[in-house]
Amino acid sequence: MQNFKSEIERRRTFAIISHPDAGKTTLTEKFLLYGGAIASAGSVKGKQSDKHAVSDWMDLEKQRGISITSSVLQFEYDGYCINILDTPGHQDFSEDTYRTLMAADSAVMVIDAAKGIEPQTRKLFKVCAMRDIPIFTFINKMDREARDPFDLLDELEKEFGIGTYPMNWPIGCGQKFRGVYDREARQILSFDDSHRGRERISGIDCDIADTERLDSLIGEAMREELCEQVELLDGACFDFDLDAVRHGKLSPVFFGSALNNFGIEPFLKHFLRMTTSPLPRVAGDVSIDPFDEKFSAFVFKIQANMNKAHRDRIAFMRICSGRFQRDREYYHVQGQKSFRLSQPQQMMASEREVINEAYAGDIIGVFDPGIFSIGDTVCERGSKITFEGIPTFAPEHFAMVEQVDSMKRKQFAKGMNQIAQEGAIQIFFEPGAGLERVIVGVVGVLQFEVLEYRLKNEYGCDLRRNNLAFEQIRWITNEGLDPKTLKLSHGTKWVQDFRGNNLLIFTSEWAIRWVLEDNPGLTLAEFSRGNAGGGEE
Ligand code: G4P
Repeated sequence: MQNFKSEIERRRTFAIISHPDAGKTTLTEKFLLYGGAIASAGSVKGKQSDKHAVSDWMDLEKQRGISITSSVLQFEYDGYCINILDTPGHQDFSEDTYRTLMAADSAVMVIDAAKGIEPQTRKLFKVCAMRDIPIFTFINKMDREARDPFDLLDELEKEFGIGTYPMNWPIGCGQKFRGVYDREARQILSFDDSHRGRERISGIDCDIADTERLDSLIGEAMREELCEQVELLDGACFDFDLDAVRHGKLSPVFFGSALNNFGIEPFLKHFLRMTTSPLPRVAGDVSIDPFDEKFSAFVFKIQANMNKAHRDRIAFMRICSGRFQRDREYYHVQGQKSFRLSQPQQMMASEREVINEAYAGDIIGVFDPGIFSIGDTVCERGSKITFEGIPTFAPEHFAMVEQVDSMKRKQFAKGMNQIAQEGAIQIFFEPGAGLERVIVGVVGVLQFEVLEYRLKNEYGCDLRRNNLAFEQIRWITNEGLDPKTLKLSHGTKWVQDFRGNNLLIFTSEWAIRWVLEDNPGLTLAEFSRGNAGGGEE
């Protein structure tokens, strides 16, 4: 019993969010290095052409050189059991990236110090903010020329509407980067790049009051500048408030250089101290306590195996309460059936391994014969719970899709529905236009290729695809509103999803504003929870 409780208490499950190239892969690798899960840097990310060395674990994905869905890495550090959810960010950005954030309890936002907030950071932040999860900011690449740190904090606060609390403060940048000042310890951690990031480092500490030593480490001019900045920080910054951090209102900010292992260990220590073990999750009008002994989980991602010989899929579940045991029978709420989860798997650094047990906070992948949908609940028979489900996020690319051979209508419909059920694409219909003409919406354009590939290989259907100029979609949230009565300008179209929800698609952000102006009282949402909308404008 004690063991059960402490296993959950030591769990931390988070996602790393960033714009491509900010340093997410490098930071992940360094976490694993400090956790002892890998022996030396370079094992996660190899050559440029082999970027997703650990994350790529489906053979076909490897052959195509892409990682279509994200993976989970688990490692131990200082008595904690850490799960990192990898959020795909390059050309493989998709709705899965957003859904993965639903399984995380907190997020680490990596920002390139020279660039500040970039488009993908913005999108991912929005999804985290929707759930009020704690967000920790790591401002990376301080060993290169960087923007003014005060400017960077200002940008975060203005754009994201959150408070920031610098845990440390950089001393110079680029060639003049000398280290950071730890505000809590009032110590300088000096920077040394001679080991080139291959080893774990602890750095040299020096008290800020030790003027003589500090002058010898960073020089008099930099010491004076630092003391002025520290005074400014202490006077003008937000106060530290752990409660605000835990509710996603105040982001602790760390400056460092992932490539040089600089600032990794202090980051991990503060992060683990400030985050909590898994918190209760909402299921209808009850809240499920992670320490409840009864197992419960929800499916947040379904990964199709694109190999024709193995049609099986892998469903990824986030455990919300209790302990998972391999040989027990569990209940799939939506399918109303009991079943055994065959070959449950977990990612441990570079290997996939079959596991015997897992706890609240963990992610498990199970072979799915085609029974699960995104958002489904799995629990112990008799538990009668249904988790809130996963929102459907607004796609950004749209295409009209038809089958080339009209004799294959049945296969086409089956394939489209199946792939939409897995959550790889969203499908929409123009009211009255017939079911053969389907509008497909995706978050990342690669999903169009995946759709074409799978329909051909698994269902024998060739597709005709016409990309559409639409870029935005919104769910209409006014109850009982007849969309026929709306005043819609050119560049806006009314469509329905497979549940019959009414939506509008737009060619631009401007078109959304015009429609809202022309139709007072109309309310639109950026994501949908079943029939209810959320994130209203
Ligand atoms: P991503 O996963 O967010 O896309 O970023 P990734 O870690 O792949 O890093 C992108 C590039 O930035 C890599 O260089 C990486 O070495 C570099 N980088 C990461 N952290 C730091 C840092 O603290 N300082 C500096 N100077 N560079 C950093 P690359 O040339 O694209 O790849 P590679 O040839 O190093 O593999």
